[in-house]
Amino acid sequence: MAENEIKVLLIEDNPGDAKLVSMMLAQAKGASFRLETRDRLDAGLERLAQGGFDALLLDLSLPDSHGFETFDRAHAAVPLLPIVLLSSLDDETVALRAVELGAQDYLIKGRVDDHSLSRALRFAVQRQKKQAAELHKDQPPEGAKFIALVGAKGGVGTTTLALNMAACIAWAKRSVIAVELRPCYGTFSQQLALTPESNLGGLLALDVDRINEMEIRSRLIKFPSSLQVLFGPQTIKESREIEAAKAEALLKGLAHMADFVVVDLPGGFPEASRAAIRHAHFGGLVVDNEPGSIAAGKATLEQLCSAGVSRNILKAIIVNRSAPETGLRVNEIGSQLDCKVFGVVAAAAELCLRSQRAGTPFVLSEPNSLASVAIYEMIYKLLSQDAVRAGA
Ligand SMILES: Nc1ncnc2c1ncn2[C@@H]1O[C@H](COP(=O)(O)OP(=O)(O)OP(=O)(O)O)[C@@H](O)[C@H]1O
Ligand SMILES: [Mg+2]
Repeated sequence: MAENEIKVLLIEDNPGDAKLVSMMLAQAKGASFRLETRDRLDAGLERLAQGGFDALLLDLSLPDSHGFETFDRAHAAVPLLPIVLLSSLDDETVALRAVELGAQDYLIKGRVDDHSLSRALRFAVQRQKKQAAELHKDQPPEGAKFIALVGAKGGVGTTTLALNMAACIAWAKRSVIAVELRPCYGTFSQQLALTPESNLGGLLALDVDRINEMEIRSRLIKFPSSLQVLFGPQTIKESREIEAAKAEALLKGLAHMADFVVVDLPGGFPEASRAAIRHAHFGGLVVDNEPGSIAAGKATLEQLCSAGVSRNILKAIIVNRSAPETGLRVNEIGSQLDCKVFGVVAAAAELCLRSQRAGTPFVLSEPNSLASVAIYEMIYKLLSQDAVRAGA
């Protein structure tokens, strides 16, 4: 048995659908699954009672149970097992209600593919682990985990990555705030097709001792995906240099407001970025796969380390904005930077444009694109480390 194998019980009466699930799980990349199937709820619950599963994949319409009752009975029988529902379009309202009441996720039959099925199961298992670990912890929940992203230089894709990473964390049902910590015009507004009335500019106009949770909260914009965003300044009037003390106060306030804070930092190395990256649990150096960006990345890493940032938290994230065939190999970039590579985002210029036009991060609108899959993989790694720490 593979060490990280995920054992799934599928309760599904339609042999065609069961076969399809089995084929999709066999093809899924990045995880290995072992599947058992039962075609009745009663038989499934009997099998679950013997234990040994990591997740339950549950069709809501079965010969011996239908709709919400199917979820309710399964959840009552195995309250700690993550349940991912398989529903038809007609059952979507029921599935949503079940998710509110404890199901980890639902998938619509006919719209599932190997990526979405594997992603839903892996995140469900990992989310449940984290919830279970927190239930058993005596200490109060820890503060937010900070993910700071800094561009090797301007225009390498840092903001796009920050918003998509944050959207992915929100999708995984962890609370998250994306913050654009920059002195002047921030492009979250372009990417999310929204110009907020208040933003970081107003917050930074306050005296440092007034930058607190309440003031921050009043400037957060919440999106339907439950992603919360603090936009950067939009006008010249709102733009100002960010003093380190104000950046510190902002980060301190944010630390109690979500599970994760993703901070988008500008290229270069202003005081505020230094403060943010010193607070970070994970620092991503974003580099484009082209020589100028790699050279700038090397210099940025040196500056970060000489400013006291621990090298252990720093990883490179390559955004292949240029055509990959003209670029270097991943391990060559890693060794030139002398830094581990955490992930590689595929070239996705058109996807970026479509996503900006729609105002929705592409991980949500086109989750199966190559760029989205790479970002989900990075977030899966980060959340897994977090779940391990919560259990430790
Ligand atoms: N994976 C990608 N493939 C192709 N183009 C991309 C990719 N990611 C981002 N881009 C595009 O690159 C441009 C710069 O992206 P973005 O604004 O995210 O970069 P940035 O590093 O935050 O820039 P700035 O320094 O101005 O803050 C945008 O047009 C964006 O759509
Ligand atoms: Mg940017």
